[in-house]
Amino acid sequence: MIEELLPASVVTVEAYGDEEPVNTVLYPEEEAVVARAVGKRRREFAVVRSCARRAMDKLGVPAQPILPGERGAPVWPAGLVGSMTHCDGYCAAALVRAADLASLGVDAEPHQTLPEGVLPAVALPAEEERLRRLAGDHPGVHWDRLLFSAKESVYKAWFPLTGKWLDFTEADIDVFTDPGDRRSGGFRARLLVPGPWVGDRQLDGFEGRWTVQRGLVATAVSVPHT
Ligand SMILES: CC(C)(COP(=O)(O)OP(=O)(O)OC[C@H]1O[C@@H](n2cnc3c(N)ncnc32)[C@H](O)[C@@H]1OP(=O)(O)O)[C@@H](O)C(=O)NCCC(=O)NCCS
Repeated sequence: MIEELLPASVVTVEAYGDEEPVNTVLYPEEEAVVARAVGKRRREFAVVRSCARRAMDKLGVPAQPILPGERGAPVWPAGLVGSMTHCDGYCAAALVRAADLASLGVDAEPHQTLPEGVLPAVALPAEEERLRRLAGDHPGVHWDRLLFSAKESVYKAWFPLTGKWLDFTEADIDVFTDPGDRRSGGFRARLLVPGPWVGDRQLDGFEGRWTVQRGLVATAVSVPHT
């Protein structure tokens, strides 16, 4: 699923809840991170790392620990950039050579409406207005959850480039559907704060893709080199 949202240079490995992952054994350093975590967190932490190690293998990078660094961002081996996501029934890792992309972010969520009160906390009034219009045109998609996921993907792509927090209200996201397909499309995130420099260009936003499949909404942002 996530593969459809990213350029061909990105290696993705995903695991659905009903599949048995190949190897979820953690390195001792990783084990220490989740030593006191609840079972669900331990399982997702291990399964997504198994996905990431399989992606690393496909890129010719030897298996090694993937530890959370600053503010929880995964620390990738030199020469790689990547992103991971886990939710009920789904885990995915996306990795690419740093020469091919400057950054990327992936996120998956259950395709359900957001809990009461969350949307006004994460959406700008203009975004809420656009979501109302989308819901009128395409009622089969939980646009509120899609917007939330897009914001998470934006943050995961933003953070490795800046090392800074980005508030939900600091990116204005415009979501659109693919022509003739109501279950996939793209989005543009306009940054309302100064953007990161990539090469000789300061970004004013990010581009992303989304899909709704198998009871999930998935989003991805990829940041090309300038
Ligand atoms: C960090 C955050 C984006 C994770 O998203 P989530 O939907 O809660 O959880 P997911 O399962 O999809 O992703 C978790 C993975 O994100 C990655 N992650 C965590 N912090 C990260 C960061 N600062 N930068 C990049 N990736 C990060 C990790 O790989 C983590 O998995 P791990 O803990 O097993 O290593 C979210 O918890 C958060 O803090 N959001 C607030 C910031 C934000 O979204 N701003 C919106 C800007 S428009």
